[in-house]
This record gives sequence, structure tokens and C-alpha cells, in this order.
Amino acid sequence: MGNYIIAIDGPAASGKSTTAKGLAKLLNYTYIDTGAMFRAVALAILEENIDYQNEENLNELLNSINIEFRLIKEVQNIFLNGVNVSDKIRLPEVTKLSSIIATYPAVRSKLLELQREFGKNGRIIMDGRDIGTVIFPNADFKFFLTGSTRIRAERRWKELNDPNVSLEEIEEDLIWRDKNDSSRSIAPLQKAVDAYEVDTNDMSVEEQVNYLYRIIEDKR
Ligand code: CDP
Repeated sequence: MGNYIIAIDGPAASGKSTTAKGLAKLLNYTYIDTGAMFRAVALAILEENIDYQNEENLNELLNSINIEFRLIKEVQNIFLNGVNVSDKIRLPEVTKLSSIIATYPAVRSKLLELQREFGKNGRIIMDGRDIGTVIFPNADFKFFLTGSTRIRAERRWKELNDPNVSLEEIEEDLIWRDKNDSSRSIAPLQKAVDAYEVDTNDMSVEEQVNYLYRIIEDKR
């Protein structure tokens, strides 16, 4: 259907990626998880033990790393320098660092360029924090997913299914990241004025996907 650019933004664990994946399947579009790209940069910093506060070191790393998405059995996997890091980027220390380095202009401008390149031919669904505001301000459809921190934390907790991690820890992480992501000076987490706001508190994944799908159907 069409040749649209669809932007899905919102706070941590608001169901952006699950919704985007479902919608991509329905529309036969490509899905790009921009959060995974920030996570991959954070992982590279940890693995190469880079002092990211040193501008020169950070730039050197950003100029040398390669980030790609490859489909494996219909699932998008992310590759860092040729290695599949799709699982590793979900580790708590990577998650925390991803939000810290996402405040650095050098990191954002490198990923902005890649994201625009990935989306240039349309038929794309991209999720993140600044897709509708900064990356594709002219996107054909913009959605902003919200939900209470408790409900978002519960979803992430169930997804992780790790007996060593408590619901409270997850909720604290979400609150900290949302605050950090909303208060940064460049490309903060923010609803685009022309985005549809979707409150996901009482919605299942299926309902979210169908809700977005119907809006796209109606408008086209
Ligand atoms: O999946 P979850 O909502 O937990 O986070 P994510 O989408 O994987 O994003 C990880 C981190 O990357 C976020 O906390 C943001 O700090 C950053 N990010 C960003 O700054 N801009 C984006 N477009 C996407 C992610």
C-alpha cells in the first residue's frame, strides 16, 4: 500500500516496536528500530572500552563502526561490524548507556544520516523518539504512543522474564530514561504537533496495530 514514511515515537517500552513490526507485516513495509541503533553504538563503546566523553575518541569510533539491519527468517536483526548483536543490545548496561550517549550531538548526527538513508525510498516504518520531529518531519503518518509507567514496566518485565530483575527496577529504569530522553537539548522525546497520540494503557498489541492500520487506510 502506498509509498509512505510512517513515524512511531514515544517513551520507553510504550509498545512502539511490537506495533511497528505488526504494522510492517500488514503493509508489507520495512521496519527500522532506531533505538537498536543507539543501543549498538552504546555496545560498541562498552566493547571497545572507549572514553566517549573524549570527543576525538567518540568521533573515531563513530567513523569506524558499521551498523546494518538484515532480515533473518522475517525478523530484523541488527549487525554491528558484521556481527549479529540483536540480543546483546538489550542488556541493562547497554540500555542505560544508550540513553546517555543519545544526548551527544556527534552520535545523533551520525545516526540521523543513516536513518534518513534507510528511509529515503519510502515504504518504511521507523520507531524512536525523534522520527516525526527531526528525522522525517514530513512523514506521511506520525504516531505518538503513550502509557502509564507502571503498565509499560509490566510489559517490559514480562517480556524480559528474568527472575533476577524486579518490576520496580524496570520501572525505575523507564522513569530515568524518559526523563533523560525528554530533557535533552537536541531531539528530545516529544510529540510532533501533527502526530496522532495513542494511549496504549487499555489496548492489546493487536488493537494497537489495527488502530494505526485503520487510520492509514482511512486517509489514503
Ligand atoms: O525499546 P525501548 O523503548 O526500551 O528503547 P529503545 O527504543 O530501544 O531506545 C533506547 C534509547 O535510545 C532510548 O532511551 C533513547 O535514549 C535512545 N533513542 C533516541 O534518543 N532516539 C531515537 N530515535 C531512538 C532511541
